[in-house]
Amino acid sequence: MKLVFTFGTRPEAIKLAPLVHEAQRRRGVHPVVVCTGQHRELLRPVLELFSLRPDHHLELMTGGQSLGGFTGRAVEGLADLFGRLRPDAVAVQGDTTTVLCGALAAFYNRIPVAHVEAGLRTDSRYSPFPEEMNRRLAAQLATWHLAPTAKAKEALVAEGVRRLGGHIHITGNTGIDALFLGLELAKGAPPPAGELGEVFARLDSDPSRPLVLVTGHRRESFGEPLERVCRALRRVAGAHPELLFVYPVHLNPNVKGPVQEMLGGLGNVFLTPPAGYGDFLRLMKRSHLIVTDSGGVQEEGPALGKPVLVTRETTERPEAVEAGGVRLVGLDEDRIVGELERLVAGGEEYRRMAVPRFPYGDGQAAARCLDAILGEPVEQFRPDGGPEPAP
Ligand code: UD1
Ligand code: UDP
Repeated sequence: MKLVFTFGTRPEAIKLAPLVHEAQRRRGVHPVVVCTGQHRELLRPVLELFSLRPDHHLELMTGGQSLGGFTGRAVEGLADLFGRLRPDAVAVQGDTTTVLCGALAAFYNRIPVAHVEAGLRTDSRYSPFPEEMNRRLAAQLATWHLAPTAKAKEALVAEGVRRLGGHIHITGNTGIDALFLGLELAKGAPPPAGELGEVFARLDSDPSRPLVLVTGHRRESFGEPLERVCRALRRVAGAHPELLFVYPVHLNPNVKGPVQEMLGGLGNVFLTPPAGYGDFLRLMKRSHLIVTDSGGVQEEGPALGKPVLVTRETTERPEAVEAGGVRLVGLDEDRIVGELERLVAGGEEYRRMAVPRFPYGDGQAAARCLDAILGEPVEQFRPDGGPEPAP
């Protein structure tokens, strides 16, 4: 089977890497790696860490790209490429523009689509924007729906994807496979160079100083909501000089500009360039708690036993919220300050959150995804103590 893996952004590459590795190990599978290059700098360290070498690289990123502009270029480039490659199937992962374009370009060539991490829903049209709609549209186009959790499967069943001949499997999230693999690959790696290296040295010299790790990049938060998050962080950093904040800032100009303006120059807040995946895993392991709007970090934090505060109004990942490792704190400045203060105070509440939890995967998701695509029997993922998945 000639199987194309298409990705373009950092999280897609991280979560598809275990699947590409698995495909490389399987007899009868000929994996072809296609990169749209939706991201550039953010992608490079992931490709290096996981030894991913795109067979075809469209290098489409432009600075400050628009949704429509990138979508047009990616659909055209991918449809043309898939038409020439004629694979048996195309695998896409997640909810980015590359996912929607990859699925659409495959459909235009009548090539079946495997959607990895299918079925996550907020049921809110513009949150996350445009990802909620990207993921829903990809579901309309896909043949294999590789749902990480039982909830994700329920959403797909309710939307009727089986009426178009779709197959749904509960696989767990390949992000947890990537986490285990990344921790292994990052072991013993030298500290990074540059600003991030200086931050690592500072953290090493003061190992008991609590670290608050921060990320943020969602489009629906650009402008005023992002400013509220920054103001909240500034207040807590000012009130707690004993804390260190590390914020690897996303390269999107709508994030980088305001964050540097509002949080730059504070003595205990370190704004750094984006961290390589291995370095980011080390930062997460070293952290006391995490503040983020990232999808992937909402899955990794609980697995590492780190409390996660999610600065969003909705989440398509309710499982860890329900399990108690993640709290959805919204975008109100006072609320974020209050929630941070409660966790910084420590005590029973912190301890209850800081327990490793694995609602999203057991590290075997890539094998299940590939079994499903190859038409082999799939042993469904079931988190410990979780309900038996419905047929
Ligand atoms: C995209 C995804 C989002 C995902 C995020 C992961 C869409 C619509 N959004 O958002 O779902 O969570 O990636 O990070 O697909 N840039 C660089 N270098 C890079 C990457 C980005 O300079 O390596 C800058 C460029 O100016 C680029 C801009 O960031 O135009 C936006 O990148 P884009 O991929 O369109 O959106 P993200 O906000 O990164
Ligand atoms: N990540 C990283 N370096 C960073 C910040 C995040 O490698 O500086 C990793 C993180 O561990 C997770 C993924 O990038 O696996 C999440 O990417 P992002 O937050 O950009 O996208 P999302 O998951 O929200 O789509």
